[in-house]
Amino acid sequence: MRSRIAGTGSYLPDKVLTNRDLEAMVDTTDEWIVERTGIRERHVAAPTQSTSDLAMEACIRALAAAGRKPEDIDLIVVATTTPDMIFPSTACLLQKKLGVRHGAAFDVQAVCSGFVYALATADQFLRGGLFKRALVVGAEVFSRIIDWKDRGTCVLFGDGAGAVVLEASNAPGILSSHLHADGSYADILNTPGQVWGGRISGDPTLKMDGGAVFKLAVRVLEEAAQEAFAANGVTVDDLDWLVAHQANVRIIASTARKLGVPESKCVVTVDRHANTSAASIPLALDVAVRDGRILPGHLVLLEGVGGGFTWGSVLVRW
Ligand code: ACO
Repeated sequence: MRSRIAGTGSYLPDKVLTNRDLEAMVDTTDEWIVERTGIRERHVAAPTQSTSDLAMEACIRALAAAGRKPEDIDLIVVATTTPDMIFPSTACLLQKKLGVRHGAAFDVQAVCSGFVYALATADQFLRGGLFKRALVVGAEVFSRIIDWKDRGTCVLFGDGAGAVVLEASNAPGILSSHLHADGSYADILNTPGQVWGGRISGDPTLKMDGGAVFKLAVRVLEEAAQEAFAANGVTVDDLDWLVAHQANVRIIASTARKLGVPESKCVVTVDRHANTSAASIPLALDVAVRDGRILPGHLVLLEGVGGGFTWGSVLVRW
């Protein structure tokens, strides 16, 4: 038994915050942000919207794309770093909003690698036969844990959600997943406070050593891709699409250059979405599926890297 992605969906809040808007908030310029990050704008959730609201919209679209109804789902895995509350999990709150009352639901916390961790987890459950059909979601309201006075970090992030319907299948689907963590890097990216009721308490905002994060991200994204290629007996030339975590266009371009992947095979949405953490990969995936770039038979590499540090890959035959 294997698993395959039967449908994708995503959701972005209505409010768009451009680099020009940020110029009025901190000492920055559109030119600096575009040159250093590739980011032009990001979406920000309304005060009334929580992570599970964004997740629900993405799930409704993924279910429609898969031709399924909420009651067809028996597993919900939500990757998020900005949960609605300490408990219940955002996955349980999402399950309630979707009107599902059976199966299992839980959250995965691996920051920007969260979606890859969640997809690998759901794949194992489906392969093992415990569940038949999963919603795997990455959803974040990162705007709530950002220091909007810190120009070094506030220009980098946005809110959003992406989801896939993952079904048990006789054929892959998901060819492999590889997950890694090294907690010794906890100091270079963290948020020491807490999120509660969609709000924050304690020392609440994201702290980052941007240069150290950049170098580590490029190194582990290259290693994770090589690991996936070797495990599946494929080469970089067999790859149709690289869907890497959308943190910075320079991280994606550097990784692609080291791997020998042409930029034309890299899905890039960070210019419009900024870094939406766990939501970034399923958001980018949904964009490339809906605009017709990712087609049946294509080989697609999903790669995440984020706080922890955590990183990993999922290789998919579409
Ligand atoms: N606008 C204008 N100037 C700025 C801004 C800003 N928004 N932010 C920093 N600067 C200034 C700095 O103060 C510094 O000024 P100084 O030389 O007078 O001291 C100068 O710009 C250069 O700063 P650097 O930090 O050296 O700039 P760099 O080219 O390294 O770019 C950046 C910084 C964009 C943060 C980069 O290091 C980066 O992208 N790192 C990866 C971080 C990341 O993606 N994190 C996301 C979370 S982790 C993840 O998702 C994997």
